[in-house]
Amino acid sequence: MDLLVVGSGFFGLTIAERAAASGRRVTVIDRRSHIGGNAYSEDDPATGIEVHRYGAHLFHTSNPAVWEYVNRFTGFTDYVHRVYTNHRGVVYPLPINLGTINQFFAAAYSPDQARELVLEQAGEFDVKTAANLEEKGIALIGRPLYEAFIRDYTAKQWQTDPKELPAEVISRLPVRYTYDNRYFNDTWEGLPVDGYTAWLERMADHPLIEVKLDTDFFDRTQPLHKAAVVGQLPVVYTGPVDRYFDYAEGALSWRTLDFEREVLETGDFQGTSVMNYADADVPFTRIHEFRHFHPERKDRYPTDRTVVMREFSRFADRDDEPYYPVNTPQDRAGLLAYRDLTKGEDRVLFGGRLGTYQYLDMHMAIGSALSMWQNQLA
Ligand code: FDA
Repeated sequence: MDLLVVGSGFFGLTIAERAAASGRRVTVIDRRSHIGGNAYSEDDPATGIEVHRYGAHLFHTSNPAVWEYVNRFTGFTDYVHRVYTNHRGVVYPLPINLGTINQFFAAAYSPDQARELVLEQAGEFDVKTAANLEEKGIALIGRPLYEAFIRDYTAKQWQTDPKELPAEVISRLPVRYTYDNRYFNDTWEGLPVDGYTAWLERMADHPLIEVKLDTDFFDRTQPLHKAAVVGQLPVVYTGPVDRYFDYAEGALSWRTLDFEREVLETGDFQGTSVMNYADADVPFTRIHEFRHFHPERKDRYPTDRTVVMREFSRFADRDDEPYYPVNTPQDRAGLLAYRDLTKGEDRVLFGGRLGTYQYLDMHMAIGSALSMWQNQLA
């Protein structure tokens, strides 16, 4: 074996694929019982509808090198992501745009009139001196829009009153003064034609790649554990960086999500793939309805049943799946300390969202793995 990759998510598989393509013999281990990390998807057994087990995954990128690379393994549908939100029983388009504003104020403002209105309502606070997330939110979009669409949703995401959250949690709140409610601005967007797992499996499908599932890097009863391999051969580690060092500098904090999946006896529950729930009296943040990610599969999917998934957000304990870095000042100090420790590790490279304590979209994870391969391994 020439290289051990810990973690079979997009970062680990990109490294493994590039290494195998250049003639290296690679072993990929993952402690889960399936390949693909959080991008993994599976067909719901009752309906055959593809479900993203770890939350909705929409592929989008403006990076030509990443787009060319991913198209070697899958085609993409022409799916365009749009999100709606339910506030007090009325549905509005997101991100906040001229349609949202005119519906909310029951008006027909032109772009300039809407801009003027928001500017006037935002005057209550100054972005530069905002003392917390609430003041910053109001300084960015004004109190009425903030209270309707941001305040309670943010409180649910963070289990914290936005008045208690630091202003820096949000840098900007996009408002579009057009009716464009396309969610992403990237050049390319779409979903893998035959699903995420087929794509991920094709990346690993090479005679020089061996994938071992249910194999934890820290389990001393399996031969490829940390103490046995570090220093002996090159390792790319994509698990949590604090876990690697046994939490020597403290645990970095994460948010996690709980998902409640249900098959409903209707052909269409909400008419769209993602519906946010903006208000405090609804405990979940959003509902995904997976059939809408693939309208082109309408002949294959049942007409009388559908799969929905409600999403709840909370702080993660050590045994939970880490999803979004919380990034407190203490976390940032901890991360710097861990980065120093990584430099002392012989022939171990740290990558991916867990290895770098960074939220990465799929195209970013793939892009950064391609750079690591090119600059540090090839
Ligand atoms: P990833 O977490 O996928 O893989 C790491 C792997 O390492 C896991 O399989 C894990 O089991 C394994 N591992 C950890 N510790 C180990 C150990 N000790 N031993 C062995 N294996 C170990 N992106 C996007 O572009 N569009 C989107 O819509 C979304 N949506 C989205 C929703 C949610 C809820 C989340 C959390 C994330 C997204 N993403 C996303 C981001 C996307 O999931 C992310 O870019 C990729 O998962 C990153 O791939 P990695 O390989 O870095 O990590």
